[in-house]
Amino acid sequence: MDAGRYHEHYLLQAGWLAPARHFLFRKAGLARRRRVLDLGCGSGVIAEEMRQVCGRPVMAVDRDREMAAFARARYPGNDYLAGDERLLVSKGMRFDLVVISFVLLWQQRPLPFLKRVRKLIAENGALLVLAEPDYGGRIDHPAGLDFLKEIYISHIRREGGDPFIGRRLPALLQRAGFQADVELASCLDIPHGSAAAAWEREWRFWQELAGFSDATLARILRLEKRALARQERLVLFPVFCALARP
Ligand SMILES: C[S@@+](CC[C@H](N)C(=O)[O-])C[C@H]1O[C@@H](n2cnc3c(N)ncnc32)[C@H](O)[C@@H]1O
Repeated sequence: MDAGRYHEHYLLQAGWLAPARHFLFRKAGLARRRRVLDLGCGSGVIAEEMRQVCGRPVMAVDRDREMAAFARARYPGNDYLAGDERLLVSKGMRFDLVVISFVLLWQQRPLPFLKRVRKLIAENGALLVLAEPDYGGRIDHPAGLDFLKEIYISHIRREGGDPFIGRRLPALLQRAGFQADVELASCLDIPHGSAAAAWEREWRFWQELAGFSDATLARILRLEKRALARQERLVLFPVFCALARP
């Protein structure tokens, strides 16, 4: 799938989480941080937002070359690198604030990942975990749509990630040597009404990603539309965050 499709999805996701993120930017003192790293920057949406808050280029890094190139072309005001935290550690780089968003869930070994990230943090610096989900806690109402979370869970597992990373966040951060405040960033109550077209695009994105059938897609869209028309639709989805200091 091309980077542009991911970008649409990341924009939508960033929109849902904007209030929580802006609160966390203030809590982490983003405006006064000099060297800021967005690790796992994807298409660059969050890095660009941070550049606008702190008024200087952010270092945006992604292990996927195509994503890093897309982000560079889209948001040229930041500095980009294709690589991962190992590369940054090997270069001896240090940051006042390291930010990750929807990145820990994709690590095959999250604890060693966090230990490496810790090495990237300068004196008086911090790690800001903006958003790590827990699909096990997701509620889709009405009950006919309950199977949706299984689609996400099996896709993330197939790709070597952990769909339940949210609940593990306090213990992982502690074991990696951080002192952390872990909270619920949001219990997303995803609004549908005005954004039906965006919602359909989002399901088509997930179909391509997770590879379910056209019949399943048609069933999802039918159930979504019916629930919307009856004003019954509700999604509650816990997303965790943390501000952590070494
Ligand atoms: C779900 S996307 C999130 C993108 C962006 N942070 C956002 O919230 O819009 C996760 C991104 O992290 C990247 N990634 C995962 N593990 C990484 C690592 N260890 N180092 C660098 N990038 C990583 C992936 O390639 C992917 O582009």
